[in-house]
Amino acid sequence: MLDRKDKNRSGPSFNRRNFLKGSGAAVAATALATSQELAAAQNNNISKITSAEPTTITLNVNGKDYDVTVEPRVTLLEVLRDDLNFTGCKEVDDRGADGADTVLVDGKATLAGSRLAIECVGKTINTVESLRNGDQVDPVVSGFVKHDAMQCGFCTPGFVMATRAFLNEHPKASLEEIRHGLGGNICRCGTYAGITACAMELAQKGGA
Ligand code: FES
Repeated sequence: MLDRKDKNRSGPSFNRRNFLKGSGAAVAATALATSQELAAAQNNNISKITSAEPTTITLNVNGKDYDVTVEPRVTLLEVLRDDLNFTGCKEVDDRGADGADTVLVDGKATLAGSRLAIECVGKTINTVESLRNGDQVDPVVSGFVKHDAMQCGFCTPGFVMATRAFLNEHPKASLEEIRHGLGGNICRCGTYAGITACAMELAQKGGA
């Protein structure tokens, strides 16, 4: 486990507007990282946190339970990458500006870097690694390949998860809906045309 002592991190849905509305409480909690009562109040599964000392929690990731010992201020992204080695989700910044850290929490696209790990106790977390089963990959993954929807690939796992979640909720989405729905993710390489083409093809098949 990485030593997070020296880290000073401030700290769902598809578009950034909805995310910012929905995550206001989480941001407040992180800003007040030593306010255990606030963190506990956000999560009915954490009945009482009495200090900022590390606490052992259980997170269900990709269908498996993991026990991790974390301080209340630690984000889900840090746990996924640093403790559990699910490195598909990426940290580009710590302000939820890019969507590279998108994972699914209870099926909803969620920015893992803006969600406290302790908030996710009792929830179902899925990372991009869950979209592969042996030699089989989710149609979104194969669609990204087919439509050449990546260059450097750094944004790609987040875009894939955002696309998967969006199509789950909007299996027959229009082009306009897709563009709006994926508006919370940014690709600095400019692969939007391929991503949109992938999502459109899947939407025409009912979101497969
Ligand atoms: Fe490089 Fe999107 S493929 S940032």
